Amino acid sequence: MLKKVSVTDIKTMKQKGEPITMITAYDVAMARNVDEAGVDMILVGDSLGNVIMGLSSTLPVTMDDMIHHTKCVMRSEPRALVVGDMPFMSYQADLAEGLRNAARFLKEGGCAAVKLEGGAEVCPLVEKLTAAGIPVMAHIGLTPQSVNQLGGFKVQGKDLQAAQKLIDDAKKLEEAGAFACVLECVPAPLAEKITRSLTSMATIGIGAGSGCDGQVLVCNDLLGVSAGFCPKFVKKYADLHSITVNAVKNYCADVKARSYPGPEHSFKMDDAVLERLY
Ligand code: KIV
Repeated sequence: MLKKVSVTDIKTMKQKGEPITMITAYDVAMARNVDEAGVDMILVGDSLGNVIMGLSSTLPVTMDDMIHHTKCVMRSEPRALVVGDMPFMSYQADLAEGLRNAARFLKEGGCAAVKLEGGAEVCPLVEKLTAAGIPVMAHIGLTPQSVNQLGGFKVQGKDLQAAQKLIDDAKKLEEAGAFACVLECVPAPLAEKITRSLTSMATIGIGAGSGCDGQVLVCNDLLGVSAGFCPKFVKKYADLHSITVNAVKNYCADVKARSYPGPEHSFKMDDAVLERLY
């Protein structure tokens, strides 16, 4: 059996300048596939609210939704390090609730780390979780749980003050003990500057250019599972939407034409038994 990826391995990859790969997965089948492909980390993202549950934001996603999908992913027994995403209002109200909910990811979900959104304001929680043995991935820049505060899904850190705040937040999160930090929708030169200013916390970019320590994408985006809007930063490596629609059209046509199922898909029985039936 291959050795499982640990938080220490991710830190070592940062030190060595070895690019880190992360992708989301929400169920056992996808987790098996992405793990077989050799990804370093799997994120059970609260983006499941959008891509699995059909919600227009991640805000309604609950702890129970997240634990359910984390368990599904963990049943794939992946080699990759699995990170569970703490949903909106599972950690913002107070430290004790944040600690209890983060612990649920490890105790019930079975994953090895949690992700939470926010900068300096979440540092006390990051310290508490790491002290309790719960590795934390931070998330700054475009933080979808604050979409109402941010006024939409926009690139962050474009002016001097906002850019400096992202650098300061990243340094504070590193000091607080986060092992990695997602940088979402941040200008590429700023993401590179943040990455270079950190010594132990790996940056994982999404819409943040190639200067980060690693990259993450939502599996449904990368695989082109659905037609319609796709963010500028996504590279579609497959068009599963067309493949799925064509396959199902062919299936429907075969059933209508009674050409499926064929003898090769059917089970035989003894003629003598058949003949005695009335
Ligand atoms: O929920 C999610 O999938 C995420 C990634 C986009 C980083 O937070």
